[in-house]
Amino acid sequence: MITPQAHLENVNQSRDKILAALAGLKPKIAIILGSGLGGLADKIEQPVTVAYRELPGFPVLTVAGHVGALLAGKLNGVPVIVLKGRKHFYETDDAYPLKTMIRAVHAAGVETLFLSNAAGSLRPHIKVSELMLITDHINFLGLNPLTGPNDDTFGPRFFPVSDAWDKTLCAKVRATAQSEGITLHEGVYVAFRGPSFETPAEIRMVQGWGADAVGMSSVPDCLIARHCGLKVVGVSCITNMGAGLSDEKLSHAHTLENASRGAAAFERLVMSAMKVL
Ligand code: HPA
Repeated sequence: MITPQAHLENVNQSRDKILAALAGLKPKIAIILGSGLGGLADKIEQPVTVAYRELPGFPVLTVAGHVGALLAGKLNGVPVIVLKGRKHFYETDDAYPLKTMIRAVHAAGVETLFLSNAAGSLRPHIKVSELMLITDHINFLGLNPLTGPNDDTFGPRFFPVSDAWDKTLCAKVRATAQSEGITLHEGVYVAFRGPSFETPAEIRMVQGWGADAVGMSSVPDCLIARHCGLKVVGVSCITNMGAGLSDEKLSHAHTLENASRGAAAFERLVMSAMKVL
């Protein structure tokens, strides 16, 4: 595991490379694109692309559908950083690559992190290829990315997450969906560690806990972001019903295929929300 000092150096070096890529642009928002939602990156005007491998401490990606690149440019005329690809905790125990990515964009001046993911629905009214605004989460990963020594440079040892998903930003995304005529459900996202999908019994359990969608990402990102003072907002693209809630057979290929079906609405929502977030 990397030392805290080496991590700080990675964050600072990556921040400088991001600032160079931004060439004077001052984005308030960074967007992490989830599985199958990478198409939004093609909508960036005059993008400057930096491969994650050029950014010290950034994740080296291994999953199909996750290309590791940071893009700097404008979306719908608004300066933005888009992070295409992230590392999941079914791939590694090491939270540092994700910490470096999020802390470096924060150090580069970003104030808000927009998270997106592919998720399974836990509710019959939330249908495949529809979108869900994340209003809260349940961390069922069995880990928290902020365990271990705390570096006070980034944030405090203990911090509240009662306001993890920003209410004001939620209201803005909700209003955007309404004005665009996009169906946007709302609910609680529960993160499992994966890589196996859930059993039907696990799905019934988390339904009882009050979760509305299930996935394997975004919760660590949210925690790291809130720790360093970033505001967080996020949307799930529903790619399947949770295990046991339909006859479909779950697979990563199925996730990617159905994410692409919801991607058009997702892209429209994010593009339009850029003007108000
Ligand atoms: N479970 C966990 N992760 C997922 C799912 C699911 O049903 N769908 C997409 N990502």
